[in-house]
Order: sequence, then C-alpha cells, then structure tokens
Amino acid sequence: MRNKIVAGNWKMNKTLKEGIELANEVNNLVSKSNNKSVVVILGTPFIYLAEVNKIIDPKFISIAVQNCASEPEGAYTGEISVEMIQSTGAKYVIIGHSERRAYFGEEEQILNKKVNLALAENLIPIFCCGERLEEREKGIHFDIVKNQLDKALFDLEESEFRKIAIAYEPVWAIGTGVNATPDQAQEMHRFIRNLIVERYENETAESISILYGGSCKPSNSNELFANPDVDGGLIGGASLKADDFFAIINSLTG
Ligand code: PGA
Repeated sequence: MRNKIVAGNWKMNKTLKEGIELANEVNNLVSKSNNKSVVVILGTPFIYLAEVNKIIDPKFISIAVQNCASEPEGAYTGEISVEMIQSTGAKYVIIGHSERRAYFGEEEQILNKKVNLALAENLIPIFCCGERLEEREKGIHFDIVKNQLDKALFDLEESEFRKIAIAYEPVWAIGTGVNATPDQAQEMHRFIRNLIVERYENETAESISILYGGSCKPSNSNELFANPDVDGGLIGGASLKADDFFAIINSLTG
C-alpha cells in the first residue's frame, strides 16, 4: 500500500506569526480528526521551519521545505544545505518545482544533485515534474515529463528511488484556477508509473506515491483523488487556509 499524501506548499506567503497560526489551526484539525491515514505535510518557508516544528504534533504532521542547495556545504551565501534542513527537523524537501525551474533556472542536472544530496541526508524528496501549456498543445507533454524523470531521477539505485515521492504539476494548472481534469491527471500519473515499471521493478512502481498539483482545491480534490494512480496532492493556494487544506485532506481519506 502506498502512502496517501497531502502536502501544502506555502511558497513565499505568510509572516512568521501568520505561519504559526496556520500551522496551529491545521495541527488542531488534523490531530482531532478520526481519520489518520493520510500523511500530512506542511511546506513552510525555511525561516519558519524551526518554529513550526515546535508546534506541530509529529505523529500527525511533517514538515517539508520548498528547496535545498545543490551543494553540500561551504561558501554559498544565502543557500540552505540538506544537512542544515535535516538539523531543524524537516522530513521532506520539494525539489524541481516549476517556479524554481522557471525563475531560478533549475534544470535536471542540478535537480539530480539535489535529489541525491537530500536522500543522503535522509530527507524525502518530493520531486516535481510537469509540462508547460505550449508543450501540451504541441502534444509533447509525455516526452517532457519522461525527459525530466530520466535525467533527474532514473539514475538512482532502486533502494533509493523507492524513498521518493513524485508530484505531477502541469505548469498551466499552477495558480491559474484551471486544474487538470481527473482524466488528464490519471493519464499522466499512469504514464509516470509505467515509466517506473520500465526502469525498476513493478513492486517499486506500485509503492511510489504520485501526487497531483495545480489548482487543487476542496471543490475538485475528491474527483482528482478518486483516480487509482493519484495518491494525493501538492497544494499551493488552498494550503494557506486551514479549513480548505483540511477539506482536501479529508477528501483523500473519504
Ligand atoms: P496551486 O499551486 O495549488 O496554487 O495551483 C500548486 C503548487 O505550485 O504546488
């Protein structure tokens, strides 16, 4: 049975006080809920990580960071290493988000380094992939996603690969209000799982959680998560409101 996961990605939002309030609200809702079968993750900004970590119940909620450095340590002003992240209590790291790719020039080679560093530090990468609108319109979306996975992930040893989670996030759906249809999501998730079967054992492919991200909200999470290959979501905007985020978590359990 693979993990069912709902991960919030706060991006560059909230002050420290607001972030603590949000984490507190989510923590209260999740810890009182009867259904504890979903892995709930909060993707906080780096500088709130240690504070948020103090208030969440680690039995029910884990923390992700939204990025990590591609070098292990040293003179890289402003960067945050995987070891530093590990030392503050995060368990997950989002790697290869399309905003990192688009605005910070992160490409597969760098992402591959980050994935390897994270795994070596026992952080779980949530690796993001997904095509842009023009790529889908040209009909090359499968090639794009295959190339992203080939270059950034598929050199991992099977035992390492089994530790990661993947998030399919079509760029045209992120923050736009236009989500992929449940069929489009299922089609790509199945495609990704089939690629894993080609590269690794069937059992490995079946054990990897593949999350959907892109305008996922309480009104559509039910039908997106009903697909057999959609194992949860990476949630941006809707993770900034505790009630919405909790509703999305519940739609996965329900
Ligand atoms: P969104 O963002 O839910 O606001 O579309 C998702 C993401 O970027 O992870």
